[in-house]
Amino acid sequence: MRLNRRGFLVLSAQLAAVPLLVRCGTNEDPLPVVETPTDTPTSAPTETATVEPTSSLADLYDPDLHQLASKEYALPDGYVPPNLQPIPGNWLMGGQSGSLRAGVLEALEPMMNDAWEDDGVDLRIRSAYRSYDEQITTFQYWVDTVGEEQARRESAVPGHSEHQLGTTMDFADPYNGWELLESFADSPSGIWLAEHAWEYGFALSYPEGMEATTGYIYEPWHHRYIGIEAAAAWRDSGLTLIEFLEQLHEEAGA
Ligand code: DAL
Ligand code: ZN
Repeated sequence: MRLNRRGFLVLSAQLAAVPLLVRCGTNEDPLPVVETPTDTPTSAPTETATVEPTSSLADLYDPDLHQLASKEYALPDGYVPPNLQPIPGNWLMGGQSGSLRAGVLEALEPMMNDAWEDDGVDLRIRSAYRSYDEQITTFQYWVDTVGEEQARRESAVPGHSEHQLGTTMDFADPYNGWELLESFADSPSGIWLAEHAWEYGFALSYPEGMEATTGYIYEPWHHRYIGIEAAAAWRDSGLTLIEFLEQLHEEAGA
């Protein structure tokens, strides 16, 4: 499936018309008004067209894709995502291997291709699916490297990482030596992702200045696939991803 950017924008506009139950919505688009013919007497009532909602927040809810994983929310014991597939070698940073859900790879393909078409963007994946056991190793690495207090600000304890979902990846760019540093945000890939990732269904889980809400430092490289419609609604909401997903669960009665 290859969707172009125009398609994404049309979709977003449709969603903007939906009376979503979001706290910080930017749903300021005026409803279209049926024009009154110039010879209509001024006393005639003005007709206003109503826009029927095409979907509600609850309709977007996918119990598997939208699982809650954070410091507060653990994944089910022994959770392993469905349909893990290897990531094509040329999408990966040199020497890495990794896997993601098949549906996420499908969504990533147009995003990688469109990113590479932009001048200077050499977007690559550095890390993707991590099993519970691999997260044990990752978390311990950070504890050994920066100490436990700092490690908890940067790395999830096993069973709480979005990487275990098979929908989440860390991107890298040669601009800052492929490192997972805040400077990734200023790299060609970081800039491109901040503007376009949502159009392909990806959400930035840990935005700048939101550690009190998300539990983690700013990670401009860490993106999670939530679906194209959900990502458009998330972006319109102005909420952090975890707040948005909590609301999605609430609306869906999950
Ligand atoms: N770096 C994120 C929080 C993780 O370990 O899942
Ligand atoms: Zn990550």
